Amino acid sequence: MKPSQLLPALAPRRFVPPWCRTLALHLPAHGRGRGLAPELATLLRRPPGSWDLPELPAIGGPLEPDGAVARAQDACANLLGAERCWFGVNGASGLLQAALLALAPPGSRVLLPRNLHRSLLHGCVLGQLRPVLFSLPFDPASGLWQPPDAVWLERVLAAALAGGPLAAVVLVSPSYQGLAVDLAPLVAAVHGAGLPLLVDQAHGRGEALAAGADLVVLSCQKGGGGLAQSAALLGQGPRLDGAAIARSLLWLQTSSPSALLLASTEAALRLHGSPAGQRRRRRAEAVAARLRRRCAAFGLPLLANHDPLRLVLHTAALGINGLAADAWLLERGVIAELPEPGALTFCLGEVPPAGLVWRLPRALRALAQALGGDPLPPFTAPPLPLVAEPDLDLGVAWRSPARLLPLHQAAGQLAAEPLCPYPPGIPLLVPGERIDAERAAWLAAEGRRWPGQIADTVKVVAS
Ligand SMILES: Cc1ncc(COP(=O)(O)O)c(C=O)c1O
Repeated sequence: MKPSQLLPALAPRRFVPPWCRTLALHLPAHGRGRGLAPELATLLRRPPGSWDLPELPAIGGPLEPDGAVARAQDACANLLGAERCWFGVNGASGLLQAALLALAPPGSRVLLPRNLHRSLLHGCVLGQLRPVLFSLPFDPASGLWQPPDAVWLERVLAAALAGGPLAAVVLVSPSYQGLAVDLAPLVAAVHGAGLPLLVDQAHGRGEALAAGADLVVLSCQKGGGGLAQSAALLGQGPRLDGAAIARSLLWLQTSSPSALLLASTEAALRLHGSPAGQRRRRRAEAVAARLRRRCAAFGLPLLANHDPLRLVLHTAALGINGLAADAWLLERGVIAELPEPGALTFCLGEVPPAGLVWRLPRALRALAQALGGDPLPPFTAPPLPLVAEPDLDLGVAWRSPARLLPLHQAAGQLAAEPLCPYPPGIPLLVPGERIDAERAAWLAAEGRRWPGQIADTVKVVAS
């Protein structure tokens, strides 16, 4: 038998001298265990596997009324100021899908931002929902979508409702790069239109609840000290339909949820709400502030954002594509989280690695010296209307017989698959959308900016 491949890749090397250690600034945010919630770390020191338990009566599961999971979910709802909480073991992805299916019946239209995570698109396929995609403000200097304000959202709602009724609205805040807005006016705009709001806070900490959102999804590996796939769905208010959520969780989640991942969710949320967790966060933010000051002293351009623990290098200002910057740094032992054509995002975590404040700016200055040049030309805003719906049903287009065309020949065709660099997992094109000449040219230009991530061909529905 061939030796195992994956197991050795996961096992840490026994001793690595400090000068050879990688600077791992990627998700999960616990940084290879350093920032795991202490209660979870304690559990993991028990005999391996002793915690891998089924839904025994004393433990229960996310949909059981009794048992430790039910009690933990209630306590976490309380802690975060929600009425209900459901733990999930298929990441924020699984809970976003369950929430969407609970809010919108088959055939209904749901309003989704263009910076949606692909899991929401998959949710639309599973629930036979019709996505109405709305465009967002765009920053040509960085090439990043910006969060909408209430005036923008009011315009979006008016345009979307002109095309027919909606079942629900989704917002993403903060974004992967830590960009956020004051959510309360946005919640008011959505509720003013008589609609429920789901906020994807995979990168956040549940602030949307205080702003009045009906449903909020958190990812415990992105915002805190949990393991990958541990996540929580929180709900509140008069629009909350707990039975509908339980039903869609039943459809989508495994019948054998991992007790370890459920415990990871509880531990991460408890830490987040505790004085010890808040002290830990403040310490990490102080490190991040020192890091930013040192980057500034080195003349390294950073993008302003709202999450101190996400550091976004504005690579376009250095004349470097973020994907090239990422590859260069990776070879030198610095692992970033999110390379994009105009920026590179580092996830510092709540327990940043030792030496971060010294090592990262030095590495970034070396990067600027090695690859830097004149700033990149401004990015072109995607040629998209304020709101748009695929011309052909998403699920039908995705399953249709398809043919491959070079992007420059795709004008007038219907997309049969999404174009979706990962990360960040945001589709640039959605199945069923008609590709006009402007969009085809924009996608071809994007393809050159995402080498290896976007092909110069696209699958279109065979006519
Ligand atoms: C905004 C956003 N929402 C949801 C997700 C899905 O999270 P997960 O991969 O943990 O399911 C991601 C993943 O990157 C994301 O960036």
